[in-house]
Formats: sequence, structure tokens, C-alpha cells
Amino acid sequence: MRFFIDTADLDQIQEAKDLGVLDGVTTNPSLMAKAGITGAKNIEDHYVKIASMVEGDVSAEVIATDVQGIISEGEYLASLAPNIVVKVPMIKDGIKAICHFSEKGIKTNCTLVFSAGQAILAAKAGATYISPFLGRIDDISWDGIGLIQQIAEIYAVQMYDTEILAASIRSSKHIVQAAQSGADIATCPLHTILGLLKHPLTDIGLEKFLADYQKGNG
Ligand code: E4P
Repeated sequence: MRFFIDTADLDQIQEAKDLGVLDGVTTNPSLMAKAGITGAKNIEDHYVKIASMVEGDVSAEVIATDVQGIISEGEYLASLAPNIVVKVPMIKDGIKAICHFSEKGIKTNCTLVFSAGQAILAAKAGATYISPFLGRIDDISWDGIGLIQQIAEIYAVQMYDTEILAASIRSSKHIVQAAQSGADIATCPLHTILGLLKHPLTDIGLEKFLADYQKGNG
């Protein structure tokens, strides 16, 4: 499973990159606002900066919700850098636009996916990635990981090429469960990636190894 970081914060992207495990970046309008990036030109410039920091795909989300608007905004975003992927909402006009992008060879990430039916439609339209929001599903006491498993099974049976990008990850445990459930990618907040490092027995074990070394060599 590949790791994307789910942020527009350049320091956090750099930290994940320095760890050596970063395969790409996802953003959305809320994450841009959280990073303090506002105004169309600043947002565009920020996408270019992020895209220059990583070799992998960077999802840039359209604001338009009509097919022509999504197509023109998406084509523009895709022209900003070769690794920009157009992030399109799971709506009727979004599906039409994904068909268009797919025919033109422009990569897409179909976002706001909450059901297997939506995942099938996005795959049929030729989406490169779909983003099921597992945290938001858990928030309303449904089963986010169960949805990832269901989509993974359908995609395997139907031999769809679309990749499952587990999104709305809230914890390190979500990352482990997404990997176990057949997600191709998890897009994660930095703290959930760093949380994977933690185990008290690792800390206790290292402390003992170092203390024993000191006893013999100190
Ligand atoms: C990323 O592609 C999604 O937009 C993001 O993971 C949503 O996360 P949230 O539910 O924590 O806002």
C-alpha cells in the first residue's frame, strides 16, 4: 500500500518526505484553508509548490460543480504540473467529467465516495483513484473499513483498474486496517503516519540495549 499525505502544509509534506515513505499528496479546499492559502492564484501557486516537492501524484480539487466548469478547471489544474491529478466530486456532472478526463488521459481522483455503488460508477467512468472517506463513515456509526473491503472485493472480481485511495483517515489503526482491507493507497494526516512508529516495548527494548552497551563499554 502506498502512502499519500493528506495536507496542504508544506512543512508536514517535507517531514513525511524526509521519513522516506511518501508516495503522493492529497489536498482539498478545507485543507487549503487550514494551511492559510486563499485566493485562486495563491492556491494555484501552492499546488505547483507541492507538486515540485514530491515525485508522486498530487490531488488538486475542482471547485466547479457543472460538467463544463469541472472540465475547464480540471484541464487547467492538470496543466500546472505533470503529477497533478484532478480531484472531482462524486456527482452526476463529476462522472461525466471523469469520462472526459479519462478519454484525454488526464488522471482523476473521484472524491466524496461513501458507497460501493458510487465506487462502481467511478470505476466505469475511468477514474484513476476513488477516495472512500472511511473516517466520515465511522463518524455516523457506519463501517468505513467494511466499505473499503467491499470495494476491494468488487474491483478484484470485476478487474477494474481504478485504485482505492482510503481517505478521511483518523488514526494509525485506520492505516493498518486499510492495508489489511485491500486499499491501494492510504492518504493520511502526518500524526497518523508517525503513530505507526510507536510501541512501548520498542522504547523499553532500546533503552535496555543502550544501557547494557554502556555497562560493557561506558
Ligand atoms: C482526502 O482526499 C480527503 O479530502 C480527506 O481525507 C478528507 O478528510 P476528513 O474527513 O478528515 O476531512
